Amino acid sequence: MIKNAVVPVAGHGTRLLPATKSQPKEMLPVGKKPIVQYVVEELARAGCEQILFVTGRGKYSIENHFDHNPELAESLRRATKDNLLDELSFENIKINYLYTRQTVQRGLGDAILCGEPFVGREPFVVALGDSIIGLRGDSSICNRLSEVYKDTQAAAVIAIEQVEPDQVSSYGVVKPETEDEEVFEISDVIEKPTPSEAPSNFVVSGRYVFSPVIFDLLRLVEADANQEIQITDAIRMLCKSGERVMGVKLPVGEKRYDIGNFDSYFSTFLEFALADPLHGPELRRKLVKLL
Ligand code: G1P
Repeated sequence: MIKNAVVPVAGHGTRLLPATKSQPKEMLPVGKKPIVQYVVEELARAGCEQILFVTGRGKYSIENHFDHNPELAESLRRATKDNLLDELSFENIKINYLYTRQTVQRGLGDAILCGEPFVGREPFVVALGDSIIGLRGDSSICNRLSEVYKDTQAAAVIAIEQVEPDQVSSYGVVKPETEDEEVFEISDVIEKPTPSEAPSNFVVSGRYVFSPVIFDLLRLVEADANQEIQITDAIRMLCKSGERVMGVKLPVGEKRYDIGNFDSYFSTFLEFALADPLHGPELRRKLVKLL
């Protein structure tokens, strides 16, 4: 299994203002947990041993969240609130956390490049810190990406989902060699194309496995009109240079929860809250009354 993961969490979350004025969007709760906790739990289940968070200004609460808080644990123990103590069990996840800063906001590609000294010449996972995969975050997509990486000797393996054709302009969109297989070769990828430019409706879905060769290409990528270095452009170079780039479809019933704006945040929160075994049934009754 691939042991290192890079989790970019440097974005400002401007589409979620005012909620994100002084807290990271990755710390917004979805159901009972902050978004980034689902991501870390997913990576731990996939066998990752070290996570590098690429942070920015105002992201301290992420570091605090994954740190032990012995005073809080002790006061819960004294008050015999063991059920609440259980809610802190994620503090014991066997992951070594590291943090680095992307000092200037120069896009996702630049954030991933910040991981080079951490990753060295090993393959690594990238998991976007603002995306949950699967209801309850129980996806095993990173294991699947790692297996395909090993089996196909690809330089990049990307989780893919199918979206409505009018949604493609929010994503990196790939050109698949075949459309019917679960695993397929990718011959091109374009960042946020118009629907008429899009090569398909198969989109890049927030989880990747890369060979370290991606760093060499990221250094060659030119900034786009927004002064951002796009990871998509480096993947495109991989395709053009004859390296193998593979896509793996998210399993049926497993979708990506995008928390980038209030429409998707509200509906994601609701779906997760309704799926909560303790609070979901009562929420459902209340909602039925409200509607
Ligand atoms: C980023 C990537 C894009 C990808 C999307 C969802 O875009 O640049 O290729 O499809 O994440 O994983 P963002 O949502 O940060 O604009």
